[in-house]
Amino acid sequence: MTPVQSALFPAGDQAAWQFDVLALMLWVCGAMYLAVLAFLAIALWRGRRRRADKDTPLSDPAAPGLERGLIAWSAIVVAGLTVLVVGSFLADRGLAGARARESLTVRVTAHQWWWRIAYRTPDGLWVETANEMHLPVGRTARIEVGSADVIHSLWIPPLAGKMDVIPGHANVIDITPRRVGWYRGTCGEFCGAQHAHMALDVRVDTAAGFGRWLAAQAAPAGHDAAVAGGERIVTNGPCAECHTIRGTAAAGRPGPDLTHLASRRSIAAGALPMSLGALEGWIVQPNALKPGTNMPAVALTPVQSDAAAAYLASLK
Ligand code: CUA
Repeated sequence: MTPVQSALFPAGDQAAWQFDVLALMLWVCGAMYLAVLAFLAIALWRGRRRRADKDTPLSDPAAPGLERGLIAWSAIVVAGLTVLVVGSFLADRGLAGARARESLTVRVTAHQWWWRIAYRTPDGLWVETANEMHLPVGRTARIEVGSADVIHSLWIPPLAGKMDVIPGHANVIDITPRRVGWYRGTCGEFCGAQHAHMALDVRVDTAAGFGRWLAAQAAPAGHDAAVAGGERIVTNGPCAECHTIRGTAAAGRPGPDLTHLASRRSIAAGALPMSLGALEGWIVQPNALKPGTNMPAVALTPVQSDAAAAYLASLK
């Protein structure tokens, strides 16, 4: 199984270019390192022989081979640097080529400690989700990143390099995934107590699969009579002050959009797997699970929190 969070197993054009530059640097610098060792070995061997012969002293500038060695070494350094310059220039051109094929816009806003993710649908509408990014394989997605609070950094190692997320400044990173699969992204800049719990699941899908997912995300939340009690608690209670559930009265902005919460793989930005128990635990004791989170504990009776969790788990 390929690792889901490794830059050494690139699954996207941008990560592949960067990996190629890294490999080139390793080869060039490795060869130079071996050349330095070889020069040293030869110099030591010659010095020892000369001392044994009581020949010319080592410091003599006219020592045979010194000048030739310096010229050869300069040529090797220039050749190595030229290879690195050309390699990184080609990689930069490759990344610029991806930019020209840009075809999908995704807006990512970093919060302490989660990711707001918004897509523009083919109809020109914006659809919001959180902590789970879906991308179509073989197409370039332009990711516009911004921050709602402090400096973060978006990093999905198998797909592309890091992009700093800076308050008051829009940054852009292009991602062209090559392989269908699940990957893990992370925050790459220390941003407070729960920096380590600021992950995002990334799903690279076929064009058709991505289209189906986006259409499903764009739809409003369903209403299930079996969880109507929970729906009342969540959409009319304190949850609605911070969360939006499209198709209901809940339209709060500070927290993640919960319209299709149960379709995601994890909750609280990768801190917990998606399950009924985790949802209920998160409602009742968020600070025990993720100390410092802005999510307040919701004062509910056990019967009410059961019902609320059952409703949230129905939001597929
Ligand atoms: Cu956000 Cu570290």
